[in-house]
Order: sequence, then C-alpha cells, then structure tokens
Amino acid sequence: MSTSKRWARMVGLVGAAAMALTMTACGEDDSAIGADPASTGGSDSEVTTIGFVAVGPEGAWRQANEKNMQETFTEEAGYELKYAPATNLDQKSQIDAFTSFVDEGVDVILLSATEGSGWEDSLTRAQEAEIPVILIDRGIEPDNTDLYVTRIAPDNIEVSKAVASWAQEEFPDGANYFVLEGPAGVSVVNERNVGWDEVIGSDSKFNKVGAQTANWSTEEAKGVFETVLKSNNNDVQMVFAQNDEMGLGAVQAVEEAGLVPGEDVKIATIDGTKNALQALADGKLSFVAEYNPLFGETAMDVVEKVLAGEDVEPYIIVESLTFDSPEAAAEALPDRQF
Ligand code: AHR
Repeated sequence: MSTSKRWARMVGLVGAAAMALTMTACGEDDSAIGADPASTGGSDSEVTTIGFVAVGPEGAWRQANEKNMQETFTEEAGYELKYAPATNLDQKSQIDAFTSFVDEGVDVILLSATEGSGWEDSLTRAQEAEIPVILIDRGIEPDNTDLYVTRIAPDNIEVSKAVASWAQEEFPDGANYFVLEGPAGVSVVNERNVGWDEVIGSDSKFNKVGAQTANWSTEEAKGVFETVLKSNNNDVQMVFAQNDEMGLGAVQAVEEAGLVPGEDVKIATIDGTKNALQALADGKLSFVAEYNPLFGETAMDVVEKVLAGEDVEPYIIVESLTFDSPEAAAEALPDRQF
C-alpha cells in the first residue's frame, strides 16, 4: 500500500468511555489517479451506472455495508446501482459479474473482493475499457493502484492495534490468548494479524496458544474455542476474535465450559455491530473495535470525483470508534444503525 498513514489522534470522548480513533490517510503518494471524464467507458446517459461486485450474505457487518451502498446510490441521487452478490462467497461468480459489468460498459465498478488475489485479469480488462474500479472494504494483491483507483475502508491494521493495546492494558502481566481468524486469503484477515502482531507479537508476557479460522461464523467459532479450552485445561484468559460473530461464538464456548465470559476469559472483537455492543453492555464481551461499514456517502463522493477527472487518495480511511466498557456500549446502542 503506497499510502503513508499516521495515527492522527486518539480522542477520548468524555463520559461515553468510548475512544474515537480518528485515523486519517495521509497519502504521500501523489500518484493518485482519476479518470479523464472524456475517456471513461460506460453509458453517456444522465444516469451514472455503478456495477457493485459484492460479497452478499456473510454476516451483520456485510449486510450493513451493502445495504448502505444500495441506499446511497439511488435513482433519486442519479445512479443505477447494479448489485451483484457472490454466489456462496465464490470468487468465480464475482469475476463473472465483474466481466459482465465491463462488457456492459458501466461507468464505475465497486469491488468487495471475496478473495485477496486473482484479480489482475479482471482489473486489466476494466482498465482497457477505461472503467474505474474502486475497492470497497477489502484490499487485493498485488496492491497496485495502477489497476484500481482507490480503496475505501477503515484501517484494519490500526483497528487491530487498538485491540492489542487494550489487551496490554487489560493484562499488564500478560495472558494466554487465542485468535479466531476470518477465512484464509482474505485481505482484512492478514491486515488484522499484522496490527495485532505489531503490538502483542513482541510482548513476551503474552502467550499465543493458537489461531484458527472460524470463517466469520458464530457456530464455527463456538466449536473451535470449545476444543481450545478443553485442550488447554481452560487456561486461556483472552480471545482476539477478528469479527463480532466469532467473538459471540467464543462467549458461548466459555459458558458451555462453565466459565464466566468477561471474567475467566475476556473476549475482544472487531466490527461493532449491535449484537456485539449488547454483549459488551451485558459484560459478556470485554472490548469491541468498530470497523465502520457505513461509508456509502464517502464512496459516492469518490465516484463523483473520479468521474469528474479529479485525483483521489489511493486509500481512503473510514473513521472508526472503539468501545471499552459496558457503559460505552449502553450509551451507543440506542442510536446504533447496524
Ligand atoms: O471485510 C470485513 C469483514 O468481513 C468484517 O469484519 C466481517 O464481519 C465481514 O464478514
């Protein structure tokens, strides 16, 4: 990623006990690209056509993100959003949809990739057709912004570093911990491991008893962590769950083992969905780092800039909060939109 990013500021919100982590992309890279309005492919009608190569049903975060995109790019706003969710998270179905959008000559393609690699041919086809591609949430490899215009997402590395920093504060003498990962090969999983390891990896007080994917699933995470507790005689004090659904599965496993979540085992998650904040308010989760899914307005602003031939940053970071107490969760819940 050619963008130099820095932690702009950590702002404590008085009373809410939530920390607003404002991370701003500080792109040093002035090679950010825009599309020449005269040269972009696509229809020349008044309506801007958007091909959204989406993930589809995956969990509460994905549902919120894709609903927000569809509610933003409306006919009233001058758009026709063609929504193409993957079939069972299958990349080939995404590549087929991507190809159809190129052949159809949409104005812009939004891509939330189910897999982090295997996109070069598709991106080259879009480039040849002069159709700008904007990554939504998920990054892809090679991380080559010549083939796509920009990526819009919260900063996974900073979000998972916030979880790790909380863990160090919560366990000053360290802990045995387990990591419930998302699916192998997904960009955000790699980034979340990088952020966590940057902080905890060098902290000898922390002992990693293991890591395993539970594929963003509550049921799968429950099964995985039940086995981990049994094989470690319940001697695990902390779980880093890379999304809320898996963290809630770990809660169920802890309870099944006759242990108390939030006391015997502290579980931290990423996403910040309602169910996780409710579990935090109830004391069953101990820390929730938001990975804000509601960035449709930002995406529309970027689409307009790109079609107007304006430059945009190669990585546009969406601000996210963290929640470190039942009080913070309880305060946020009434107005929670996802
Ligand atoms: O890419 C974002 C991740 O995908 C979210 O953290 C997870 O809940 C979703 O399935």
